[in-house]
Amino acid sequence: MKYGFFDDKKREYIITNPKTPTKWINYVGGLNFGGFVDHTGGSLICKGDPAINRITKYIPQMPDSEFKGETLYIRFKTDDGYKVFSPFFVPTLDDYDKYECHVGLGYTKIISEFYGIRCEATIFVPFDSERVIRDIKVTNISNETMDIDIIPVAEYTHFEALKQFNNNDWVPQTMQSDCVFEEDGYKIVFQYAFMKKDTAMNYYTSNYPIASFETDRKTFLGNMGYGTWQNPQSLYDDEFTNYQARRGDNVCALMHHLGKIKSGEEKRVILQLGQCASYKEEMCEINKFRNENVVDEEFKKLGEYWDEYLSSLSVETPNSEFNTMVNIHNPRQCYMTKNWSRYLSLYQLGLGARGIGFRDSSQDVMGVLANMKDEARELIEKLLKVQLRNGSAMHQFNPISMIANRGDSEEMEDRPDYYGDDNLWIIYSVCEYIKETGDFDFLQKEIEFYDKDKNEQTIESGSVLEHLERSINFTHDNVGKHGLPLLGFADWNDPTNLPTGAESVFIANQYGVALNELCDLFEYLGDEDKVEKYRKYYNEMKDVVNEHCWDGEWYVRYFTNDGIPIGSKINTEGKIYTNAQSWSIMSGFAKDERAKKALDSVNKYLNTEKGIKLSYPGYEKYDPAKGGISTFPPGAKENGGIFLHSNPWVMIAETIVGNGERAVQYYNQINPVTKNDKIDEYELEPYVYAQNILGNEHPQFGLARNSWLSGTASWTYQAATKYILGIKPTFKGLMINPCIDPKWNGFKAVRKFRKTTYNIEVVNESRTSKGVKKILVDNVEIDGNILPSIDADECKVRVIM
Ligand code: GLC
Repeated sequence: MKYGFFDDKKREYIITNPKTPTKWINYVGGLNFGGFVDHTGGSLICKGDPAINRITKYIPQMPDSEFKGETLYIRFKTDDGYKVFSPFFVPTLDDYDKYECHVGLGYTKIISEFYGIRCEATIFVPFDSERVIRDIKVTNISNETMDIDIIPVAEYTHFEALKQFNNNDWVPQTMQSDCVFEEDGYKIVFQYAFMKKDTAMNYYTSNYPIASFETDRKTFLGNMGYGTWQNPQSLYDDEFTNYQARRGDNVCALMHHLGKIKSGEEKRVILQLGQCASYKEEMCEINKFRNENVVDEEFKKLGEYWDEYLSSLSVETPNSEFNTMVNIHNPRQCYMTKNWSRYLSLYQLGLGARGIGFRDSSQDVMGVLANMKDEARELIEKLLKVQLRNGSAMHQFNPISMIANRGDSEEMEDRPDYYGDDNLWIIYSVCEYIKETGDFDFLQKEIEFYDKDKNEQTIESGSVLEHLERSINFTHDNVGKHGLPLLGFADWNDPTNLPTGAESVFIANQYGVALNELCDLFEYLGDEDKVEKYRKYYNEMKDVVNEHCWDGEWYVRYFTNDGIPIGSKINTEGKIYTNAQSWSIMSGFAKDERAKKALDSVNKYLNTEKGIKLSYPGYEKYDPAKGGISTFPPGAKENGGIFLHSNPWVMIAETIVGNGERAVQYYNQINPVTKNDKIDEYELEPYVYAQNILGNEHPQFGLARNSWLSGTASWTYQAATKYILGIKPTFKGLMINPCIDPKWNGFKAVRKFRKTTYNIEVVNESRTSKGVKKILVDNVEIDGNILPSIDADECKVRVIM
């Protein structure tokens, strides 16, 4: 509890020490308008694509003590001038009496006490609104009357994020600021690049009269341009210059004289940072949000939204850290990965035109199906639109322009231009969407394929079901020497890029999982011929995998174009890969003895107390034939690091073989909540999953990086809810099939599914891991373990294990 604690009632994590090992962030708003706020009040805000319409300048690579994007200064009159400090700790770094950053659902609230002044700043983006609100309450908690000013400051970037960094004449020559002087001292200070005048102007304003403002950074910092953010010289003058910048590094600093505040007295100021086409058009909205009641109302709505969002599932298990994650923080992270994909975080900087990943979003969307069905379907439709007629998929696309590309594979001409795994992920997303919603009609919806003719017109459309079958057939038709699917440029393991002709055991299993899904679907639809066709594909691949890929203790991961295995005991490095084991079990290709053995090998060679490594041992030297994987030292990222995204797949596999104890152990060892006591080693936010932790081949074993935007969010949520708790939507209804730690005496869950809320109680008197003896629905025993759809809003389900 060195840096903070969880408050599950308020659904917050509360940081109590601002000197966290890295900045810890939270998201506000969405991709249409929003970004992130760090725990010291810095902010990166964009409207739409962060690469092409960025508002604040936030450079994560600068030291954590530095100003980034936005801050707030407070000053009070002393006998010989002013005392200046920031209630956000950064950038003035004063000693504080109290510091709390409440990381909430959709908002961040910083409460601090410095020099007898208490400041409470709530930062959020109201729904359906394109502005960041900073709702500031300042209270004099000293015994004396104090004369207090507050000065919020934002620093702007050129809207094209990369241009800001690669042209330092053109960019500053375009940057403009001007002020609209309203009645009674109210002001709106605009900032824009010259060509955006009258189309996209940023603005900063307040519901309080502004005595003066500054828009030029050099003047604001003072000291002939050598002033610092820690101690800006202009803050010692009574007023700013009111200069309306015609070039340069544009900032906006707004002088608020709150005046003499008596002991115990509070003043409130509401700030808005937004972007609009014209001041006349926006005036009405600006005025609306100057009203305290409107802001209170909007903040309340945010809470109500999350009440509703989280109500699709809540659980009560004997493991409180599990509950904290499953009830609050993991679904919130799933929401963020669904919305932000890999666009914008402290690690994914959103500077280029990367767009969103086909494989990433196909997986992210599975984490939100119970909570936001319509938005999920919309994203799935977009994904289907970048699938090609041959069944493969474009690797990345811009969700706004819908222009797609082939990802990094474009850069190496002698390698395939597709990723062998992409096309298969969408089968899972569509099937899971239908299981959750029962919306079988969706299968008939016509959606175009991405291929275009000379005039950029769509060539062909097909039903959703047709899209799925083409995905399968693409993999079926693109196999290598052993009959295993060709790797393409890469599979899920992005940086393993082997010369053309390599085969992937991961894709073989992925194909197996997808075929099982399709067979279940066609069986439900009553199409026997299709079931037979795909069952045959499945059995053929199962034979290939078991004939060529079993290595004695585990499954191999790849074959090179010369037929040499990778991830085999014959290799000296990269002998064993996690995904080849977990997925062989998920596909059902590995049975009984082999399944158990493969998982025991994961436990023996790959597991650490801090998570499961992706492979072992790491590659010691860069090898261009293997590609990106060998650019990392052993123990980092995909080269034998603890790549968290692949951990839940092992949990799922363990539940399939019935080992609930291990599944829960693997869950616990990467649960960020459990890292709260080990933050100095782990470094990142304990309230979200990171993408990677350094493995035990690395001297900094245990250090995490790349928090927030990772497929880990969706898959750990699925592993915990569908496989460990075993509350799993199927085409036929909600299945209950827990696989828990045998020490658990049971658990409770409330799950909204289709039309009904199921109040589930699982009783594990026999202290087993897996196996349902009996299920009672409203006291009546049912056949099997799929809950019948009932004509009631609520029902009681009692499950005896
Ligand atoms: C990153 C990529 C993802 C890839 C994974 C493993 O998370 O976003 O697409 O599957 O790394 O390489």
